[in-house]
Amino acid sequence: MERQMLRADLEKLRKSGKLLVCERQVDPKFELGAVLKHFSNKKPILFNNVKGSNVSVIGGMFGDRDIFYHMVNTNHEQRICKFMDAIANPQSTKLLDNGPVKENILTRNIDITRLFPIPTFHESDSSSFITAGVVIIKDHETGKRYTSIRRLQVNRGDNLSILIASPLLTGQLQELKAKKKDLEVAVILGYDYGFLLASQVSSELYGVDKYEVDSALRGEPLELVKCHQIDLEVPAHAEIVFEGVIPHGKEEVEGPFGELMGYYGNIANHPVIEVKTVMFRNNPIFQVSFPCREEHLSNGLMREVELYMHVSKFADIKDVNMTIGGGCRFHGIVSINKKQEGDGKGVILGALGSNKDMKHVIVVDKDIDIFDGDDIEGALATRVQASKDIVVVSGAHGSGLDPSHNIRGITDKVGIDATKPLGEAGIKFNKAIIPGYEKIDIEKYFPKFKGGM
Ligand SMILES: Cc1cc2nc3c(=O)[nH]c(=O)nc-3n(C[C@H](O)[C@H](O)[C@H](O)COP(=O)(O)O)c2cc1C
Repeated sequence: MERQMLRADLEKLRKSGKLLVCERQVDPKFELGAVLKHFSNKKPILFNNVKGSNVSVIGGMFGDRDIFYHMVNTNHEQRICKFMDAIANPQSTKLLDNGPVKENILTRNIDITRLFPIPTFHESDSSSFITAGVVIIKDHETGKRYTSIRRLQVNRGDNLSILIASPLLTGQLQELKAKKKDLEVAVILGYDYGFLLASQVSSELYGVDKYEVDSALRGEPLELVKCHQIDLEVPAHAEIVFEGVIPHGKEEVEGPFGELMGYYGNIANHPVIEVKTVMFRNNPIFQVSFPCREEHLSNGLMREVELYMHVSKFADIKDVNMTIGGGCRFHGIVSINKKQEGDGKGVILGALGSNKDMKHVIVVDKDIDIFDGDDIEGALATRVQASKDIVVVSGAHGSGLDPSHNIRGITDKVGIDATKPLGEAGIKFNKAIIPGYEKIDIEKYFPKFKGGM
C-alpha cells in the first residue's frame, strides 16, 4: 500500500468519494482545462484518456479547503496551529537507496513533450505550461534546500523557462551569473497535499528546510532518493522528476500566460532549465494545477498562518480568512474577540504590515462568519462609519501581480474596522436570536430531507 505522495492520496480521495474519473478522451489543449474549470478547480479529476498520450493526468486537487484539511488530517479550527507547529518543529527526512520514481531513467534524446501530455490552458498562452512542478534547488553557499512551485513554459523538449517571483532565488541566480556558475535543479510532479503545502512556506520569513516541514506535517519522515546525475534529493514516491541545470546567463522570453487573478502576465526574459535526465514511475501520472484557484488556495493557507501571527499581537483573534476572491493574498478578513476599543485598528496595522501584498483588510467581531460574504457585508453595512472606521495608507509597496498597482508602481491600502463598540453602545448590535435554533433537528419535521434540497 502506498503511504506517501500522489498514489497514496488518490487512494484516500477515491475511498472518500472525492475523486472524479474521466474516461472520455480530452484534448490537453484547452479542453482538459475547461473541464477542470467547470468545477471551479474544486474537484480532483483523474483524466485517463488524454489525446495523443497514454499517460493519465490528475488536476483540480488543490482548490477546495475542506478536501485540503481532510487530506492533511486536520480541520478548520486546528489548521493554523498544525501548520505553525510544523514550521516551528521541522522533522528529519529519510534517504532510501532506491524508490519507485527511479523505475525509468532517461538521459538521452529527452523530449518531455512526447513523454507527457503537457496542457495548454488559455487562448493567448505562449506555449504549453507545467503548472504544478515543485522545483528543488540547494543554496550554492549554505547547501540549504529550497522547494517551491514555479511555472515552467515549455520551450523545447528539453528546455523550460522558469518564472521566479522570489527575491531570494533571484538574488542567488544573479550571484551565480556573476561567478559564471550553473545551478542544479530538479522538478517534482506527482506529490501529495502535505508536500505541496510545505512547499508554500515562505523562505524569506522562516528560512526552513521545506522537506523537513513536510515530514512534520505528515507525522513521519518524507522518504527521499538521490537524483540520478545531480546533487539533490527528491521524494522516492513521486511520479515524475526532471533533473537539469539553470545555466548562468541564459534566458528566454516567457509569457504571456493566464495567471494570478486570471489576467495575462507580462512577457519578459526569464531563466531556463536545461533538462538532462527524466525519471518516472511505471505508468506515471502527470500532475497539473489549473490557474489560478489552486495556486491561490494552496499558497493562501500558508499566508493565513502569516496573517494570524501578525495580528495576534494586537487582539484576541478568533479566525482569519485570506479570501479566494482576493487571490488569497490581497484581502484579509479577521474576526476578533474585542476586549478594548482600539483592538480593530491594531489588527488593521498588523494585517497591512503582514505582507506587502496585503491590500484590503476588514476586522469584524467574533459573531460574524468570516467565510460568509453576506455576513461580512452585513457588518460593513451596520457597524461602519467611514469617517472614523476606515484607515487609508497611500503610496505603499504593493504586489506586481495587481495590475492596478502597476500603473503607479505603488499601491493604496485600506483597513476597515467593522467591529461594534463595547459597553452600553454595543447592546444595539446584539443579533436577534431564536431560542433552540442551533439544536433543531430538521429531519424530525421533514423525514425525507437529508441536508439539501
Ligand atoms: C500552483 C502554484 C503555482 C505557483 N507558481 C509560481 C510561479 O510561477 N512563480 C513563483 O515564483 N511562485 C509561484 N508560486 C508560489 C510559490 O511556490 C510560493 O510562494 C513559495 O512559497 C515560494 O517559496 P520561497 O519563499 O522559497 O521562494 C506558485 C504556487 C502554487 C501553489
